[in-house]
Amino acid sequence: MVALDQIQLIEFRGNLFPEWMELRQKVLREPLGLAYSDADIDAEADQWHLCGFKDGKLIAGLILLPKASVIKMRQVAVHPDFQGKGVGSQLVRSAEELAIELGGDRMVLHARESAVSFYRNLGYDVSREAFIEIGLPHFRMDKSLE
Ligand SMILES: CC(C)(COP(=O)(O)OP(=O)(O)OC[C@H]1O[C@@H](n2cnc3c(N)ncnc32)[C@H](O)[C@@H]1OP(=O)(O)O)[C@@H](O)C(=O)NCCC(=O)NCCS
Repeated sequence: MVALDQIQLIEFRGNLFPEWMELRQKVLREPLGLAYSDADIDAEADQWHLCGFKDGKLIAGLILLPKASVIKMRQVAVHPDFQGKGVGSQLVRSAEELAIELGGDRMVLHARESAVSFYRNLGYDVSREAFIEIGLPHFRMDKSLE
């Protein structure tokens, strides 16, 4: 178990943004042989980038995208050295509190098959049918925040 020292929102294209991009590229894109395009990132200007820190290093992050009272959680990534140590769970719980502050009553996400049990442990329901996103099977998952 690793306790995050700090969980905070970071500014889009601010000082910490390159570190966040490096983590996402390493954890979410490199294993698939893919990279982000400028258009992908430009589209995230008004989304909420929540990151977790340990010993001053950005080791985890996710993005919240509010659509009225439904909040979409995306790009959940934990540095490989820290996976399986409770870091992702701490960050997702913190994101749920933030989602409520943003006026959300339901969190939704698209989970890779390998991450379904991670979200299920955190109380998310899973759809039966998979669909393909970035070339991988994904499942719709959601959780009431009330
Ligand atoms: C998936 C991910 C975000 C989980 O974060 P994490 O910090 O590794 O997970 P935690 O340590 O908080 O795990 C919590 C629980 O989920 C379980 N779990 C299920 N699937 C898991 C998975 N793929 N990775 C890690 N834990 C997983 C763990 O066993 C643990 O259960 P326990 O508390 O009963 O022991 C992280 O492993 C990761 O970044 N993986 C690669 C990228 C990815 O798949 N992101 C999600 C895209 S939808």
